Amino acid sequence: MSRIYNVAIVGCGIGRSHVTEGYLNSTDRFKVIAVCDLNTERLDEFATEFGIERKTTDFNDLLAMADLDIIDICTPPGVHYSQIMAALKADKHVVCEKPLVGSLKEIDEVMAAEKTSKGRLMPIFQYRYGDGVQKAKKIIEAGLAGKPFAGTAETFWNRGPDYYAVPWRGKWHTELGGVLMAHAIHIHDMICYLMGPPKSLFGRVATRVNAIEVEDCVSASVLLESGALASFTATLGAAEEISRIHMAFENVTFESSHAPYSLGNDPWRIVPRNPETGKKIDALLADWQPVPPRFAGQIRALYDALETGGPLPVSTTDARAGLELVAAFYHSARTATDVNFPLGPDHPTYESWIPEHYRAQAG
Ligand SMILES: NC(=O)c1ccc[n+]([C@@H]2O[C@H](COP(=O)([O-])OP(=O)(O)OC[C@H]3O[C@@H](n4cnc5c(N)ncnc54)[C@H](O)[C@@H]3O)[C@@H](O)[C@H]2O)c1
Repeated sequence: MSRIYNVAIVGCGIGRSHVTEGYLNSTDRFKVIAVCDLNTERLDEFATEFGIERKTTDFNDLLAMADLDIIDICTPPGVHYSQIMAALKADKHVVCEKPLVGSLKEIDEVMAAEKTSKGRLMPIFQYRYGDGVQKAKKIIEAGLAGKPFAGTAETFWNRGPDYYAVPWRGKWHTELGGVLMAHAIHIHDMICYLMGPPKSLFGRVATRVNAIEVEDCVSASVLLESGALASFTATLGAAEEISRIHMAFENVTFESSHAPYSLGNDPWRIVPRNPETGKKIDALLADWQPVPPRFAGQIRALYDALETGGPLPVSTTDARAGLELVAAFYHSARTATDVNFPLGPDHPTYESWIPEHYRAQAG
Protein backbone atom coordinates (compact mmCIF):
# COMPACT_ATOMS: atom_id res chain seq x y z
CA MET A 1 0.00 0.00 0.00
CA SER A 2 1.29 3.45 -0.86
CA ARG A 3 2.17 5.98 1.78
CA ILE A 4 -0.38 8.67 2.71
CA TYR A 5 0.98 12.11 3.66
CA ASN A 6 -0.83 13.99 6.44
CA VAL A 7 -1.55 17.61 5.55
CA ALA A 8 -2.55 20.77 7.44
CA ILE A 9 -4.16 23.71 5.63
CA VAL A 10 -3.38 27.19 6.97
CA GLY A 11 -5.84 29.82 5.70
CA CYS A 12 -9.38 28.98 4.65
CA GLY A 13 -9.71 31.16 1.52
CA ILE A 14 -7.88 29.64 -1.47
CA GLY A 15 -7.06 26.78 0.93
CA ARG A 16 -10.52 25.48 0.00
CA SER A 17 -9.39 24.97 -3.65
CA HIS A 18 -6.23 23.18 -2.49
CA VAL A 19 -8.56 20.72 -0.74
CA THR A 20 -11.35 20.37 -3.32
CA GLU A 21 -9.17 20.35 -6.45
CA GLY A 22 -5.95 19.02 -4.95
CA TYR A 23 -6.04 16.74 -1.92
CA LEU A 24 -9.56 15.35 -2.43
CA ASN A 25 -8.53 14.30 -5.95
CA SER A 26 -5.64 12.31 -4.45
CA THR A 27 -7.08 10.68 -1.34
CA ASP A 28 -4.86 7.67 -2.04
CA ARG A 29 -1.87 9.95 -1.44
CA PHE A 30 -2.87 12.71 1.01
CA LYS A 31 -5.14 13.19 4.01
CA VAL A 32 -5.98 16.62 5.42
CA ILE A 33 -5.84 16.05 9.17
CA ALA A 34 -5.66 19.65 10.48
CA VAL A 35 -6.74 23.17 9.60
CA CYS A 36 -5.61 26.53 11.01
CA ASP A 37 -7.13 30.00 10.62
CA LEU A 38 -7.33 33.06 12.87
CA ASN A 39 -10.98 33.49 11.88
CA THR A 40 -12.87 30.99 14.04
CA GLU A 41 -16.06 31.15 11.98
CA ARG A 42 -14.18 30.23 8.79
CA LEU A 43 -12.18 27.61 10.69
CA ASP A 44 -15.28 25.88 12.07
CA GLU A 45 -17.09 25.86 8.73
CA PHE A 46 -14.02 24.49 6.91
CA ALA A 47 -13.37 21.75 9.46
CA THR A 48 -17.02 20.68 9.47
CA GLU A 49 -17.42 20.74 5.68
CA PHE A 50 -14.36 18.59 5.03
CA GLY A 51 -14.58 16.46 8.20
CA ILE A 52 -11.13 17.60 9.41
CA GLU A 53 -10.40 16.27 12.89
CA ARG A 54 -8.07 18.95 14.26
CA LYS A 55 -8.59 22.71 14.11
CA THR A 56 -6.59 25.51 15.67
CA THR A 57 -6.08 29.27 15.54
CA ASP A 58 -2.42 28.87 16.55
CA PHE A 59 0.06 28.01 13.76
CA ASN A 60 2.54 26.75 16.41
CA ASP A 61 0.17 23.90 17.27
CA LEU A 62 0.83 22.49 13.79
CA LEU A 63 4.59 22.55 14.31
CA ALA A 64 4.17 20.37 17.38
CA MET A 65 2.13 17.66 15.59
CA ALA A 66 4.57 14.77 15.15
CA ASP A 67 2.34 12.92 12.66
CA LEU A 68 1.93 15.94 10.38
CA ASP A 69 3.98 15.74 7.16
CA ILE A 70 2.97 18.80 5.09
CA ILE A 71 1.97 22.34 6.07
CA ASP A 72 0.10 24.01 3.21
CA ILE A 73 0.25 27.80 3.68
CA CYS A 74 -2.62 29.80 2.18
CA THR A 75 -2.39 32.91 4.36
CA PRO A 76 -2.00 36.49 3.08
CA PRO A 77 1.38 37.18 1.43
CA GLY A 78 2.88 39.18 4.32
CA VAL A 79 2.53 36.12 6.59
CA HIS A 80 4.24 33.56 4.31
CA TYR A 81 7.89 34.23 5.20
CA SER A 82 7.61 33.66 8.96
CA GLN A 83 5.35 30.61 8.53
CA ILE A 84 7.62 29.02 5.90
CA MET A 85 10.73 29.56 8.03
CA ALA A 86 9.05 28.08 11.14
CA ALA A 87 7.70 25.08 9.22
CA LEU A 88 11.09 24.30 7.63
CA LYS A 89 12.75 24.64 11.04
CA ALA A 90 10.29 22.04 12.34
CA ASP A 91 11.36 19.76 9.44
CA LYS A 92 7.90 19.79 7.83
CA HIS A 93 7.35 19.72 4.09
CA VAL A 94 5.79 23.01 2.96
CA VAL A 95 3.43 23.99 0.18
CA CYS A 96 2.95 27.75 -0.06
CA GLU A 97 0.80 30.04 -2.16
CA LYS A 98 2.15 32.76 -4.39
CA PRO A 99 3.76 35.19 -3.95
CA LEU A 100 6.10 33.02 -1.92
CA VAL A 101 7.69 35.90 0.02
CA GLY A 102 8.13 39.67 -0.24
CA SER A 103 11.73 40.26 -1.38
CA LEU A 104 14.76 38.66 -2.99
CA LYS A 105 16.53 38.72 0.38
CA GLU A 106 13.69 36.73 1.93
CA ILE A 107 13.66 34.14 -0.87
CA ASP A 108 17.42 33.69 -0.51
CA GLU A 109 16.95 33.13 3.23
CA VAL A 110 14.16 30.65 2.54
CA MET A 111 16.38 28.81 0.03
CA ALA A 112 19.16 28.61 2.61
CA ALA A 113 16.71 27.27 5.23
CA GLU A 114 15.47 24.69 2.73
CA LYS A 115 19.00 23.26 2.51
CA THR A 116 19.20 22.57 6.26
CA SER A 117 15.65 21.24 6.71
CA LYS A 118 14.42 17.68 6.31
CA GLY A 119 11.33 19.28 4.80
CA ARG A 120 10.99 20.31 1.16
CA LEU A 121 9.21 23.46 -0.08
CA MET A 122 6.92 23.61 -3.10
CA PRO A 123 5.66 27.05 -4.17
CA ILE A 124 2.30 27.12 -5.95
CA PHE A 125 2.19 27.92 -9.68
CA GLN A 126 -0.86 25.82 -10.55
CA TYR A 127 -1.42 27.34 -14.00
CA ARG A 128 1.51 25.30 -15.30
CA TYR A 129 -0.77 22.25 -15.13
CA GLY A 130 -3.32 21.10 -17.71
CA ASP A 131 -3.14 19.54 -21.17
CA GLY A 132 -2.72 22.75 -23.21
CA VAL A 133 0.37 24.14 -21.54
CA GLN A 134 1.94 20.71 -21.06
CA LYS A 135 1.51 19.81 -24.75
CA ALA A 136 3.16 23.11 -25.73
CA LYS A 137 6.00 22.41 -23.29
CA LYS A 138 6.52 18.93 -24.73
CA ILE A 139 6.61 20.21 -28.33
CA ILE A 140 9.11 22.94 -27.42
CA GLU A 141 11.34 20.60 -25.40
CA ALA A 142 11.33 18.04 -28.22
CA GLY A 143 12.85 20.75 -30.45
CA LEU A 144 9.89 20.77 -32.88
CA ALA A 145 9.00 24.44 -32.35
CA GLY A 146 12.48 25.67 -33.26
CA LYS A 147 13.83 29.12 -32.58
CA PRO A 148 11.60 31.36 -30.43
CA PHE A 149 10.83 34.70 -32.12
CA ALA A 150 8.31 36.65 -30.02
CA GLY A 151 5.56 36.21 -27.44
CA THR A 152 2.88 38.08 -25.52
CA ALA A 153 1.44 37.43 -22.07
CA GLU A 154 -1.86 39.12 -21.21
CA THR A 155 -3.66 39.11 -17.88
CA PHE A 156 -6.90 41.03 -18.46
CA TRP A 157 -8.76 40.51 -15.18
CA ASN A 158 -11.29 42.50 -13.19
CA ARG A 159 -11.10 43.47 -9.52
CA GLY A 160 -13.22 46.12 -7.82
CA PRO A 161 -13.97 47.60 -4.40
CA ASP A 162 -15.47 44.35 -3.02
CA TYR A 163 -12.20 42.53 -3.66
CA TYR A 164 -10.18 45.31 -2.05
CA ALA A 165 -12.54 45.49 0.96
CA VAL A 166 -10.49 42.59 2.44
CA PRO A 167 -8.08 44.59 4.66
CA TRP A 168 -4.77 42.97 3.61
CA ARG A 169 -5.34 43.52 -0.13
CA GLY A 170 -4.15 46.57 -2.04
CA LYS A 171 -1.52 47.52 0.57
CA TRP A 172 2.27 47.33 0.25
CA HIS A 173 2.92 45.81 3.67
CA THR A 174 0.38 43.02 3.47
CA GLU A 175 -0.09 42.26 -0.25
CA LEU A 176 3.58 43.16 -0.98
CA GLY A 177 2.73 44.40 -4.48
CA GLY A 178 -0.24 44.73 -6.83
CA VAL A 179 -1.26 43.01 -10.05
CA LEU A 180 2.38 42.02 -10.60
CA MET A 181 2.63 40.06 -7.36
CA ALA A 182 -0.90 38.78 -6.95
CA HIS A 183 -2.23 38.11 -10.44
CA ALA A 184 0.15 38.42 -13.41
CA ILE A 185 2.85 36.48 -11.52
CA HIS A 186 1.22 33.31 -12.86
CA ILE A 187 1.33 34.12 -16.56
CA HIS A 188 4.80 35.68 -16.30
CA ASP A 189 5.99 32.41 -14.77
CA MET A 190 4.27 30.45 -17.55
CA ILE A 191 5.73 32.38 -20.48
CA CYS A 192 9.25 32.05 -19.04
CA TYR A 193 8.58 28.33 -18.38
CA LEU A 194 7.79 27.97 -22.10
CA MET A 195 10.09 30.51 -23.79
CA GLY A 196 13.00 30.58 -21.35
CA PRO A 197 14.41 33.07 -18.86
CA PRO A 198 14.57 36.86 -19.31
CA LYS A 199 17.77 38.78 -20.01
CA SER A 200 16.46 42.32 -19.51
CA LEU A 201 13.18 44.14 -18.94
CA PHE A 202 11.81 47.64 -19.37
CA GLY A 203 8.56 48.01 -17.44
CA ARG A 204 5.89 50.53 -16.54
CA VAL A 205 3.35 50.32 -13.71
CA ALA A 206 0.27 52.42 -12.92
CA THR A 207 -2.65 52.51 -10.49
CA ARG A 208 -5.67 53.36 -12.63
CA VAL A 209 -8.54 51.04 -11.71
CA ASN A 210 -8.89 51.05 -7.93
CA ALA A 211 -8.05 53.45 -5.09
CA ILE A 212 -5.23 51.26 -3.73
CA GLU A 213 -1.57 51.74 -2.74
CA VAL A 214 -0.21 49.17 -5.19
CA GLU A 215 -0.31 49.04 -9.00
CA ASP A 216 -3.20 47.56 -11.01
CA CYS A 217 -1.95 48.06 -14.60
CA VAL A 218 1.49 47.06 -15.96
CA SER A 219 3.32 46.56 -19.21
CA ALA A 220 6.85 45.55 -20.13
CA SER A 221 9.12 44.93 -23.06
CA VAL A 222 11.26 41.90 -22.29
CA LEU A 223 14.37 40.55 -24.01
CA LEU A 224 14.71 36.82 -23.35
CA GLU A 225 18.05 35.04 -23.01
CA SER A 226 17.36 33.27 -26.31
CA GLY A 227 17.18 36.65 -28.05
CA ALA A 228 13.40 36.38 -28.48
CA LEU A 229 11.25 39.38 -27.55
CA ALA A 230 8.20 39.30 -25.29
CA SER A 231 5.66 41.78 -24.08
CA PHE A 232 3.75 41.48 -20.82
CA THR A 233 0.53 43.42 -20.16
CA ALA A 234 -1.81 43.12 -17.20
CA THR A 235 -4.76 45.08 -15.88
CA LEU A 236 -7.40 44.57 -13.19
CA GLY A 237 -9.86 46.75 -15.08
CA ALA A 238 -10.99 44.53 -17.96
CA ALA A 239 -14.74 44.40 -18.72
CA GLU A 240 -14.09 41.00 -20.32
CA GLU A 241 -11.71 38.75 -18.39
CA ILE A 242 -9.16 36.71 -20.35
CA SER A 243 -5.68 35.31 -19.89
CA ARG A 244 -3.65 34.68 -23.01
CA ILE A 245 -0.19 33.54 -24.01
CA HIS A 246 0.62 33.89 -27.71
CA MET A 247 4.01 32.73 -28.98
CA ALA A 248 5.61 32.59 -32.41
CA PHE A 249 8.41 30.04 -32.81
CA GLU A 250 10.18 29.28 -36.09
CA ASN A 251 8.05 26.20 -36.84
CA VAL A 252 4.97 26.58 -34.63
CA THR A 253 2.66 29.32 -33.34
CA PHE A 254 0.96 28.65 -29.99
CA GLU A 255 -2.03 30.48 -28.56
CA SER A 256 -3.31 29.48 -25.12
CA SER A 257 -6.88 29.05 -24.04
CA HIS A 258 -8.38 32.42 -23.04
CA ALA A 259 -10.03 30.98 -19.91
CA PRO A 260 -8.85 33.52 -17.32
CA TYR A 261 -8.36 31.07 -14.44
CA SER A 262 -7.50 27.87 -16.28
CA LEU A 263 -5.43 28.92 -19.28
CA GLY A 264 -3.24 25.84 -18.87
CA ASN A 265 -6.14 23.63 -20.00
CA ASP A 266 -7.01 22.66 -23.55
CA PRO A 267 -7.86 24.01 -26.02
CA TRP A 268 -4.58 25.66 -27.07
CA ARG A 269 -4.20 26.53 -30.74
CA ILE A 270 -1.05 24.81 -31.93
CA VAL A 271 -0.40 25.86 -35.52
CA PRO A 272 2.49 24.17 -37.37
CA ARG A 273 4.16 26.10 -40.17
CA ASN A 274 3.91 23.15 -42.56
CA PRO A 275 2.36 19.64 -42.80
CA GLU A 276 5.69 17.98 -42.05
CA THR A 277 5.94 19.67 -38.64
CA GLY A 278 2.25 18.91 -38.06
CA LYS A 279 2.92 15.19 -38.57
CA LYS A 280 5.85 15.24 -36.14
CA ILE A 281 3.66 16.95 -33.51
CA ASP A 282 0.88 14.40 -34.04
CA ALA A 283 3.38 11.57 -33.57
CA LEU A 284 4.84 13.17 -30.44
CA LEU A 285 1.41 13.58 -28.85
CA ALA A 286 -0.05 10.27 -30.10
CA ASP A 287 -0.05 8.56 -26.69
CA TRP A 288 -0.82 11.71 -24.68
CA GLN A 289 -1.68 11.01 -21.06
CA PRO A 290 -4.02 13.68 -19.66
CA VAL A 291 -2.38 16.09 -17.18
CA PRO A 292 -4.82 17.12 -14.45
CA PRO A 293 -5.24 20.91 -14.38
CA ARG A 294 -4.32 23.46 -11.72
CA PHE A 295 -4.00 22.26 -8.10
CA ALA A 296 -5.02 18.70 -9.05
CA GLY A 297 -1.96 18.40 -11.31
CA GLN A 298 0.54 20.22 -9.13
CA ILE A 299 -0.39 18.48 -5.88
CA ARG A 300 -0.41 15.04 -7.49
CA ALA A 301 3.06 15.75 -8.91
CA LEU A 302 4.24 16.76 -5.42
CA TYR A 303 3.57 13.23 -4.20
CA ASP A 304 5.85 11.69 -6.81
CA ALA A 305 8.66 14.11 -5.92
CA LEU A 306 8.34 13.35 -2.20
CA GLU A 307 8.23 9.62 -2.77
CA THR A 308 11.16 9.44 -5.20
CA GLY A 309 13.25 12.31 -3.86
CA GLY A 310 13.19 13.69 -7.42
CA PRO A 311 12.81 17.35 -8.37
CA LEU A 312 9.74 19.20 -7.09
CA PRO A 313 7.19 20.14 -9.77
CA VAL A 314 7.69 23.82 -8.90
CA SER A 315 10.81 24.86 -6.98
CA THR A 316 12.05 27.83 -4.98
CA THR A 317 14.30 28.59 -7.97
CA ASP A 318 11.11 29.09 -10.01
CA ALA A 319 9.62 31.27 -7.27
CA ARG A 320 12.82 33.35 -7.15
CA ALA A 321 12.67 33.90 -10.91
CA GLY A 322 9.08 35.15 -10.52
CA LEU A 323 10.11 37.56 -7.76
CA GLU A 324 13.09 38.78 -9.79
CA LEU A 325 10.67 39.77 -12.56
CA VAL A 326 8.58 41.70 -10.03
CA ALA A 327 11.66 43.47 -8.62
CA ALA A 328 12.90 44.30 -12.13
CA PHE A 329 9.50 45.69 -13.11
CA TYR A 330 9.35 48.04 -10.11
CA HIS A 331 12.95 49.18 -10.48
CA SER A 332 12.60 49.78 -14.20
CA ALA A 333 9.36 51.71 -13.75
CA ARG A 334 10.88 53.93 -11.06
CA THR A 335 14.15 54.62 -12.85
CA ALA A 336 13.01 54.45 -16.50
CA THR A 337 15.88 52.05 -17.24
CA ASP A 338 16.34 48.58 -18.66
CA VAL A 339 17.01 46.10 -15.83
CA ASN A 340 19.35 43.17 -16.47
CA PHE A 341 18.94 39.73 -14.89
CA PRO A 342 19.90 38.09 -12.59
CA LEU A 343 19.25 40.38 -9.60
CA GLY A 344 21.57 39.65 -6.67
CA PRO A 345 22.28 41.11 -3.23
CA ASP A 346 23.81 44.26 -4.75
CA HIS A 347 20.59 45.24 -6.52
CA PRO A 348 18.77 48.28 -5.02
CA THR A 349 15.53 46.30 -4.69
CA TYR A 350 17.18 43.29 -3.01
CA GLU A 351 15.93 43.96 0.53
CA SER A 352 12.62 45.52 -0.47
CA TRP A 353 10.78 47.02 -3.41
CA ILE A 354 8.24 48.76 -1.18
CA PRO A 355 8.40 52.50 -1.99
CA GLU A 356 10.40 54.57 0.52
CA HIS A 357 7.49 56.56 1.92
CA TYR A 358 5.47 53.40 2.69
CA ARG A 359 8.53 51.86 4.34
CA ALA A 360 8.94 55.00 6.42
CA GLN A 361 5.24 54.89 7.44
CA ALA A 362 5.69 51.36 8.77
CA GLY A 363 8.68 52.57 10.81
N1 LIG B 1 -2.89 30.48 -6.75
C1 LIG B 1 -3.95 31.25 -6.93
O1 LIG B 1 -4.58 31.26 -7.98
C2 LIG B 1 -4.44 32.10 -5.79
C3 LIG B 1 -5.75 32.58 -5.79
C4 LIG B 1 -6.16 33.34 -4.69
C5 LIG B 1 -5.27 33.64 -3.68
N2 LIG B 1 -3.99 33.19 -3.75
C6 LIG B 1 -3.01 33.51 -2.70
O2 LIG B 1 -3.39 32.78 -1.51
C7 LIG B 1 -3.10 33.57 -0.36
C8 LIG B 1 -4.40 33.80 0.43
O3 LIG B 1 -5.32 34.51 -0.38
P1 LIG B 1 -6.90 34.37 -0.13
O4 LIG B 1 -7.53 35.05 -1.29
O5 LIG B 1 -7.25 32.98 0.16
O6 LIG B 1 -7.05 35.27 1.19
P2 LIG B 1 -8.22 35.26 2.26
O7 LIG B 1 -8.11 36.54 3.01
O8 LIG B 1 -9.51 34.88 1.62
O9 LIG B 1 -7.82 34.03 3.21
C9 LIG B 1 -6.68 34.07 4.02
C10 LIG B 1 -7.02 33.41 5.35
O10 LIG B 1 -5.83 33.36 6.14
C11 LIG B 1 -6.20 33.60 7.50
N3 LIG B 1 -5.01 34.06 8.23
C12 LIG B 1 -4.41 35.28 8.17
N4 LIG B 1 -3.32 35.30 8.96
C13 LIG B 1 -3.22 34.07 9.51
C14 LIG B 1 -2.30 33.48 10.43
N5 LIG B 1 -1.26 34.18 10.91
N6 LIG B 1 -2.51 32.20 10.81
C15 LIG B 1 -3.57 31.50 10.34
N7 LIG B 1 -4.49 32.02 9.47
C16 LIG B 1 -4.30 33.28 9.07
C17 LIG B 1 -7.30 34.64 7.41
O11 LIG B 1 -8.09 34.66 8.59
C18 LIG B 1 -8.06 34.19 6.17
O12 LIG B 1 -9.15 33.34 6.49
C19 LIG B 1 -2.46 34.86 -0.89
O13 LIG B 1 -1.06 34.72 -0.87
C20 LIG B 1 -2.97 34.96 -2.31
O14 LIG B 1 -2.10 35.71 -3.15
C21 LIG B 1 -3.57 32.42 -4.78
